[in-house]
Amino acid sequence: MTSSTPDPLGFRRVRHAYDTVAEDYAAYLPDTRAEAPLDLAMVDAFAEAVTSGDDAQVLDAGCGAGRMSRYLAERGCLVEGVDLSSSMVAMARRDHPDLVFTVGSLTDLPYPDDRFAGVMLWYSIIHTPPAGQARIFAEATRVLRPGGHVLVGFQSGEGTRDVSGAYRRFGHEIQLERHLYTPDHVACQIEAAGLREVCRLVRRAQGNEKDDQAVLLAKAD
Ligand SMILES: C[S@@+](CC[C@H](N)C(=O)[O-])C[C@H]1O[C@@H](n2cnc3c(N)ncnc32)[C@H](O)[C@@H]1O
Repeated sequence: MTSSTPDPLGFRRVRHAYDTVAEDYAAYLPDTRAEAPLDLAMVDAFAEAVTSGDDAQVLDAGCGAGRMSRYLAERGCLVEGVDLSSSMVAMARRDHPDLVFTVGSLTDLPYPDDRFAGVMLWYSIIHTPPAGQARIFAEATRVLRPGGHVLVGFQSGEGTRDVSGAYRRFGHEIQLERHLYTPDHVACQIEAAGLREVCRLVRRAQGNEKDDQAVLLAKAD
């Protein structure tokens, strides 16, 4: 994509931001210590649902530097990761050389139909504005097998937050915003894509978090 190519969903800016901060992101968030036990209970439920079937191929969609891919792999999932940012993918490959990572967009996943038993979107839908959300869930559903599961983690609320400042202390001048979505909004998107909600977690913000956090588990029939 060149700078003259239309970029209606703002992915060029998102890619540039994560390319810029990738090394610090990987160093600062190497594992799941930022997740609350309740959040991880939902990830565990997802991993258990996926590994109870015949094959446990999981896509970590918006995998960043791969910390959640590692968490899923440790729970028996056969994980691949995909991310918009080639520098985040480079960090993932460096830190998790036994797993496969690919550069690609949630809105145009580089995989055939029915490829995965599970798709996890862990804080990766948050940089896509409302106009792009239906496409993300349509793509997650396309690559999911019948009976497969989708897990979505995100900050719960409405509107947008400028998160550029969070990276200034690492010396990065980037422009990055994240979108807040209500659990009902995400549930509607999931159902419009043909999935069925299994359960959801909504918990209050803790520690340095600015927003409540939500996790939805859904299934393809
Ligand atoms: C907040 S980070 C979360 C990364 C990882 N899931 C984790 O929990 O560490 C958001 C990630 O989503 C990726 N991302 C954002 N929009 C994307 C898109 N349209 N397609 C693929 N990846 C995207 C970013 O590049 C970034 O690595």
